Amino acid sequence: MKKIALTGIKPTGILHIGNYFGAIKPALELARDYDARYFIADYHALNTMKDPEEMASCIREVAAGWLAAGLDPEKVIFYRQSSIPEVFELTSMLMAFTSKGLMNRAHAYKAAVQENAERGDDPDAGVNMGLFTYPVLMAADIILFDSDVVPVGKDQVQHIEMAQDIAQAVNFNYKKEVLKVPRAAVQDEVAVVPGLDGRKMSKSYGNVIPLFAPEKELRKLVMRIVTNSQGVDEPKDPDASQIYQLYKLFAPAEEQAALAARYRAGGMGWGEAKEELFRAANRTLGPLRERFEAIMTDREKLDAVLEQGAEKARPIAAATVRRFRKAAGIDRK
Ligand code: ADP
Ligand code: TRP
Repeated sequence: MKKIALTGIKPTGILHIGNYFGAIKPALELARDYDARYFIADYHALNTMKDPEEMASCIREVAAGWLAAGLDPEKVIFYRQSSIPEVFELTSMLMAFTSKGLMNRAHAYKAAVQENAERGDDPDAGVNMGLFTYPVLMAADIILFDSDVVPVGKDQVQHIEMAQDIAQAVNFNYKKEVLKVPRAAVQDEVAVVPGLDGRKMSKSYGNVIPLFAPEKELRKLVMRIVTNSQGVDEPKDPDASQIYQLYKLFAPAEEQAALAARYRAGGMGWGEAKEELFRAANRTLGPLRERFEAIMTDREKLDAVLEQGAEKARPIAAATVRRFRKAAGIDRK
C-alpha cells in the first residue's frame, strides 16, 4: 500500500512563482509516489483574514492555481478544510491532550509576543485564540487522515513535531496506537526563489512575480528586476544574478549552459538577459495561465471538484474520529 502524504495550503493571497517552485511543483511530484491528500486550509486563514470578499476570492484562486499547475483531482484527494467537520471535532479532542506550555513555545506565537514586548504593548495584544491554538488545528488536519509524511517548508517543522507530540500523548494514554504519528518531509533541495529585488520572493516583501500574471504584466515585472550597473560589454557572473537564477527555473540544462556562456563572454546587457528570462518564463507559464483562466471562469465546476474531494475525505476522517471516541470511552462500540 502506498504511504499517505498530506499538506495544507493557506489561501492568503495570490500565488507567486516562489510558491510554485518551492511548494506546488514538489508536492505534485510527491503525489506520483504517495496517496496524496492536499487541502485548502481556510480555517487557518481565518485567523488573519477577516474580509469575506478577500477570503472567498483567495480560496478560489488558490484552488484553481493548484489545479492549473497540474493537480489531478482523480488522483489526489483535494478539498477544503472547512468541508470536513471532523477536523474540528478532532481539534477539540486533541486540545485535551495538548499542554498549554507546548503552545507557549510555538514560534509564531512567541514572535507575536516578542514584537509586542518591543513595542511596550501587552504581551498578548492582537493574539487571538486561533493563532494561539494554531498548532492543534494543524495537528488535527494531519492526524485525521492517517498521514505518514507531511511535505512542508522548514518554517513548519515545529508544527509537525507538535503534531507528533500530541499524537504520542494520546497513544501513550490509551496504551495503543489510536492515532498515526506523522513525520515531516522537508524539501531541502528546493532552492529559495529570489524576488525582483534579490531577496526571497515573498508577499510580505512586495517583490513577487504572480504565477498567473498576464503576459504584459509578466514582461513588465521581469524588466523591473534590480541589476547592478555593469555595461553591455562587460562579462557577467550568471550565478550572482537573480535574472539567471530565475531563468534556470524555466530553461532546460542545455539552454542554461548556453546562456551562462553568453553572460560570461560579455556583449550581452541586462536588458537582453531579461528578454531571455521573459521568453523562457512565458513559455512555461503561458499554458498554466490559460488553464487557470479557464478554471476561474467555471465557478460551478471548481466548487464541484472541491466538493467531490470532500466526499472522498469525509469517510476517512469519520473513521479516525470513531476510533478515537471509542478509545476514549465516549462511544462504547
Ligand atoms: P509568502 O512568503 O509569499 O507569504 P507563503 O509563506 O504563503 O509565501 O508560502 C507558501 C509556500 O510556498 C511555502 O511552502 C513556502 O515554503 C513556499 N515559498 C514561498 N516563497 C518561496 C520562495 N521565494 N522560494 C521557495 N519557496 C517559497
Ligand atoms: N501551517 C501551514 C502553512 O502556514 C498550512 C497548513 C495548515 C498545513 N494545516 C496543515 C501544512 C497541515 C501541512 C499540514 O503553510
